[in-house]
Amino acid sequence: MIERKFEFEEHGDSRGTLVSIEQLNNIPFEIKRVYYMYGTNENVVRGKHSHKNLKQILICISGSCKILLDNGKEKEEVLLYKKNEGLYIGNNIWREMFDFSEEAVLLVLASEYYNENDYIRDYEMFINTL
Ligand code: TYD
Repeated sequence: MIERKFEFEEHGDSRGTLVSIEQLNNIPFEIKRVYYMYGTNENVVRGKHSHKNLKQILICISGSCKILLDNGKEKEEVLLYKKNEGLYIGNNIWREMFDFSEEAVLLVLASEYYNENDYIRDYEMFINTL
């Protein structure tokens, strides 16, 4: 099983819900970068790459989207829609993000700064480096 999810505690009261994420406390790495995607058209497929070193947590903080995970041996499809659930994606995992709902916002917590040299964007190369 490739899928590894983290469920974050919901601090809820009559005012609503608050979720807190702390590096090395409720996720397993130091957060060097945060980015998010929104306004993604329905037919778009994002991602289509793996990382040599980068670890990430994906949280769909609004709407829903699907993530394809591929470790070169198995593929899994994960639906993200819970605002307090993070999908961990380690290094050497091919990922594709698709089926974004209209209001989808996908938040990503990343263990490293942006570095194009950490990307493998060619599927054959991904398979060959495993
Ligand atoms: P891209 O890698 O195509 O996104 P995805 O893999 O989700 O489809 O990134 C889109 C653009 O944003 C590209 O020009 C690189 C840039 N970018 C940054 O500048 N910093 C970042 O942290 C990320 C993830 C992308």
